[in-house]
Amino acid sequence: MMAEPRKVVQGVKYNSLAGEEPWRWSVSPSLSGKALPSSPIAAAAPMLPLLDGRSIPSIGFGCYKVGVVPGSAAGAAAAAKPAPAMQVIADAIAAGYRCFDSAQFYENEDLVGRALSASGMPRSELYIMSKVWTNKIFEGAAAVRAQCLKTIQDLGCEYLDLYMVHWPVPGKHVEAYKEMVALQSEGLVRSLGVSNYTVEDLADLQAAGLPLPTVNQIEINPFLYRKRTIAHFEGLGIRMQAYRALCNFGKTASMENEIVLSLAAKHGRSASQVLGRWCIQKGFQHIPKSERRERMDENARVFDFALDSEDMNRLEGLTTEKNLETFKSTYLKCVLRDTPLEGSMEGVKTEITLE
Ligand SMILES: NC(=O)c1ccc[n+]([C@@H]2O[C@H](COP(=O)([O-])OP(=O)(O)OC[C@H]3O[C@@H](n4cnc5c(N)ncnc54)[C@H](OP(=O)(O)O)[C@@H]3O)[C@@H](O)[C@H]2O)c1
Repeated sequence: MMAEPRKVVQGVKYNSLAGEEPWRWSVSPSLSGKALPSSPIAAAAPMLPLLDGRSIPSIGFGCYKVGVVPGSAAGAAAAAKPAPAMQVIADAIAAGYRCFDSAQFYENEDLVGRALSASGMPRSELYIMSKVWTNKIFEGAAAVRAQCLKTIQDLGCEYLDLYMVHWPVPGKHVEAYKEMVALQSEGLVRSLGVSNYTVEDLADLQAAGLPLPTVNQIEINPFLYRKRTIAHFEGLGIRMQAYRALCNFGKTASMENEIVLSLAAKHGRSASQVLGRWCIQKGFQHIPKSERRERMDENARVFDFALDSEDMNRLEGLTTEKNLETFKSTYLKCVLRDTPLEGSMEGVKTEITLE
């Protein structure tokens, strides 16, 4: 199915899907006369080049659990009551974030889109990324296409700056990625990416002769620093995006670690800034999430100090064999999550590069 043509009318951009009411991106502030919110550090973050010739802000804002905690979120998180998305996104824009990491799985793309639009920020000044979830990947190319169009409509964003395969569903992810190449050629997606890919999953795309993804979004922090994997992707020019930079396996105890705290004291910074600065110095895109304005500001202040090589080494020494094994069991569970094969090991790669 071909996408409906996208239109631009006097500075108002919108995307329309057959039979559905398109909703409109706000007119740009210069047209509306609205003042732009203050845009401190994060708005001036350096851009990182991508191998398709485009670039991406070095810091972005994570949208997982913004406004909605997905039903399948584990444990205490499922019971948590999140702050309203409208407020969180308005605060993130005011704190200077211009890049937003969204996903079908987060169940909040419509809320995030409306909040971004209400901020008055022109679409062209934002970098919006999303990911297609395992259930649609499993269903096949048509489902991936329909989901991409839904995501664009929910976000009201006309096109996606970056679209990613959320997890490499065995036997299915190559077809999903192929469809994303088609979506890119139609102008609906600018850059292509993957998430949670191992060296072996990337090899599937390479064997199919597909263009390399521009990014691989994986958990990276000093407690889970998978050096060989990162070097392999970076060696091919693929940019790493660090998710959970502040909370290893979802636990914020990273910010209470003795070494992290001692480096924070040494530099007169907070633990989150030490962890964020480590990502920035490594060349990873940093996408912290917080629903608190003061933490958004704090997390963005990672461009005005430097860790020395000894600091970097001390942080990197925090990755343990046990953490690598935990990563492996998470991977084995998640690649078939929310598919009819969940709970089985059908097609799942067990020999993967962990480190
Ligand atoms: N591709 C994937 O499979 C995948 C998986 C996980 C995450 N992600 C992406 O990566 C983003 C970031 O990951 P994440 O949200 O799981 O974790 P994170 O950004 O590393 O950490 C978020 C947690 O840390 C707290 N926090 C944030 N700043 C803080 C500070 N300065 N001091 C103390 N606590 C602070 C937040 O609480 P408050 O909100 O209460 O401040 C929240 O509990 C996600 O939002 C999502 O976009 C992708």
